[in-house]
Amino acid sequence: MLYSLLRPLLFRLDPETAHVFTLNAIEKARRFGLLAGGPITCQARHAMGLDFPNPVGLAAGMDKNGEHIEALAALGFGFIEIGTVTPRPQPGNPQPRLFRLPQANAIINRLGFNNHGVDKLVTNVRRANYHGILGINIGKNFDTPVEKSADDYLVCLHKVYPYASYIVVNISSPNTPNLRQLQNAEELDHLLDALKSKQKELADEHAKYIPLVVKIAPDLEFEQIESVAVLLMKHHIDGVIATNTTLSRTGVETLPYGDEPGGLSGAPLMQRATSVIRHLHAVLQGAVPIIGVGGIMGAADAKEKMDAGASLVQIYSGLVYRGPHLVREVVRAICASDAVDSLRSGTE
Ligand SMILES: Cc1cc2nc3c(=O)[nH]c(=O)nc-3n(C[C@H](O)[C@H](O)[C@H](O)COP(=O)(O)O)c2cc1C
Repeated sequence: MLYSLLRPLLFRLDPETAHVFTLNAIEKARRFGLLAGGPITCQARHAMGLDFPNPVGLAAGMDKNGEHIEALAALGFGFIEIGTVTPRPQPGNPQPRLFRLPQANAIINRLGFNNHGVDKLVTNVRRANYHGILGINIGKNFDTPVEKSADDYLVCLHKVYPYASYIVVNISSPNTPNLRQLQNAEELDHLLDALKSKQKELADEHAKYIPLVVKIAPDLEFEQIESVAVLLMKHHIDGVIATNTTLSRTGVETLPYGDEPGGLSGAPLMQRATSVIRHLHAVLQGAVPIIGVGGIMGAADAKEKMDAGASLVQIYSGLVYRGPHLVREVVRAICASDAVDSLRSGTE
């Protein structure tokens, strides 16, 4: 209700200013005790060796530096993912680089991993008073040659390992040149090999095993999805996030900003991201849990992703268009439908 009044005002600001303004407002609301929730505990899920209080998480990119973890957690999410973070700070692409397409409930971004670097993120995480599930999403600096990408991921993995509940290897942003090439079979095989051996070393050193998750693009051909899935199983990767933003412009071609370069998210991504989940699930058969993301604007969309094979879901653009109450709406609907399912199976 409140958000439907606020949204027209926010949408008058340029999108990046509105983003900073909104996060600061949520932060202030929390500090002044106006926002005091935590994760909604309802139909907890066990996945990747972790207990999620509810299956609805915040997708990467909203809090790239981990500056607002507690405030975002107070919206009711079952888990929060921060990043993408890179080894060194970098400014990202020149502005403007973020565009709303309200007629389509969509966003195009070409931020380009703007972030303050992994050391700053670690300081922020250590300072936060958050005890829920925290994913940390890692990437490479834009000026690291693609053949040296593994070094960047290994630096970030090493630094964030003690502070993460799970770590996401982002090889699917369309805004870092050549990054998506790491999804090709040979490159992915080498990268996962290097990351898994480092994970083993770190698990021994810290006496705790932190799950490793890979985030993929929606623009892969079905054969590529299959080859990625086979490699995830070969390397015993703990989870897969499907999907990142798309290069496709189907459905937004004629809209203002529809031809801006970058990754498209929101409603037009929904069906494509869900079909990637369905394909992954057909190959993985539950061997690697899937986190479904892309175009969730309401409870029915989240349910569709779970029916396609996702164990958990995440939201980003839906928050911009529907507001923070979307989290509660989706969690409650999933819980209600789970309760109906268990009642049904109890009577069968
Ligand atoms: C402005 C913006 C920035 C994003 N930044 C990141 C990022 O840094 N790392 C990442 O893995 N995904 C990033 N994403 C992708 C989201 O995490 C998500 O995968 C995608 O937007 C699809 O979900 P949605 O339709 O609910 O937004 C970003 C998305 C948006 C809109």
